[in-house]
Amino acid sequence: MDTIIKTTTSTNIKSKVYILDNTEQLIHISLKPEELEYIKECYNDAKDKTVCINRYCEHLYLFFLDESKEEYLALEACRKKGANICGLLNKNHLEEVLVLSIEKHNKELSATAEGIALSNYQFNKYKSDAKENSLKHIYFQENTVCKSCIEKLNIIIEAISWAKNLVNEPVNKLNATDLANIISNRLREVGGLAEVFNKKKIEALKMGGLLAVNAGSLDEPTFTILEWKPEDRVNEKPIVLVGKGIVFDTGGYNLKTGTYMNNMKDDMSGAACVAATIYAVAKAKLPVHIVALVPATDNRIDGNAHVSGDIITMFDGTTVEIINTDAEGRLILADALSYAKKFEPMAVFDFATLTGAAAYSVGPQATVVMETKADEIYDSLEKSGFDTFERIVKFPLWPEYGELIKSEIADLKNTGGSYAGTITAGKFLEHFTDYPWVHFDIAGTAFLEKAESYKGTGATGVHVRLLMKYFEELITKHQTD
Ligand code: BES
Ligand code: ZN
Ligand code: ZN
Repeated sequence: MDTIIKTTTSTNIKSKVYILDNTEQLIHISLKPEELEYIKECYNDAKDKTVCINRYCEHLYLFFLDESKEEYLALEACRKKGANICGLLNKNHLEEVLVLSIEKHNKELSATAEGIALSNYQFNKYKSDAKENSLKHIYFQENTVCKSCIEKLNIIIEAISWAKNLVNEPVNKLNATDLANIISNRLREVGGLAEVFNKKKIEALKMGGLLAVNAGSLDEPTFTILEWKPEDRVNEKPIVLVGKGIVFDTGGYNLKTGTYMNNMKDDMSGAACVAATIYAVAKAKLPVHIVALVPATDNRIDGNAHVSGDIITMFDGTTVEIINTDAEGRLILADALSYAKKFEPMAVFDFATLTGAAAYSVGPQATVVMETKADEIYDSLEKSGFDTFERIVKFPLWPEYGELIKSEIADLKNTGGSYAGTITAGKFLEHFTDYPWVHFDIAGTAFLEKAESYKGTGATGVHVRLLMKYFEELITKHQTD
């Protein structure tokens, strides 16, 4: 169950997190002299340490804000503190915690609760001897964090934990049809629209990219269209989100070797991100028109699987020479990007675990992003990236890179050689767009092998928070214009 965040008037909550500005504020907390001494000692030792006071039936966790930090860094420090405290709360078998500050610090309170709640995520479904976390509730005092902020926070936590569940499910438990049904039904539950194209329909539409990747699979491909179109929308034309839904990537005949195939269930992280985001937007009833497109299949080997040298015809008529069957993501995304034109979108954002090179370039610290005709939109997204600490960095899409994916015998080839692999993948996708477009290569940020603070291990649900922040800003901008 997800951690629930609420306000309370109760004075009876035995574990508390205090966010403090300085040691003078300690007089507002009832502390024994030796406790006060201990806290001051810890503070003098290391100002950024969390101080724990264990009174056995009562637990206090105190930490100090660093005023010298820029706001987004201070908020990230709070999330990390939250993660750290979450571990301690569960270790002490505590079920609830009150997060409070002496001064008004609502953003910091929210960020700390967010860090606690995100790191309380567990994927225990298949463990017989699972040790469930004890923590169930996070409380704020009344009149601190606003009601609608708490509502949004809960929705975001729920959406991210759902996105992580989808990614953490292995392919033998979740194939393309399962994915399509789950994301459609969940959006319908909160008043959104959903339609799933099956193989027959995908064939009729001649989505050659999706069909080529699916040719080696025993399971059918799906193409899911999700939509949230509220009456009070601020955007005239929709924002279309596209998510790569490769439920498992073996590489196909260009089979992944060694450990490269490990964790390839994460190749539908883009799909999970866009499905969870549109769900969160709909549940929060945000006044913004959004469409999400999810092409989905596994990439496997079989008698009919596509092979190197094949020439395929894409949904928009472009012909593509297959050089490497492991560059499958761009094939299914290309069809979705062409399909997106039908919505005359304000902008299209795609999310894809597309190239290992993106992970090698910038590591898990950032997502590599490219854009065309979307300079200003990129700037807002970059800001949302800092605000949520889901940072993005921009790579160029200079025309020279396009030369690398020209084919001798078809319009394009699906790989561009050993250099600039992330950019040539972006360049390939760009061919299928004619609208403001932003491409997110999340290969390095979607899944972590090593636990990292509030993100934990496994799926991270990356960019649900960034997108929610971006939509919130977009709405505010329209309402103040
Ligand atoms: N799904 C992979 C990319 C990937 C790598 C995602 C590591 C997550 C972690 C993608 O389909 C792929 O295999 N890309 C190839 C492209 C190459 C053949 C041009 C790659 O990155 O090696
Ligand atoms: Zn691949
Ligand atoms: Zn892939």
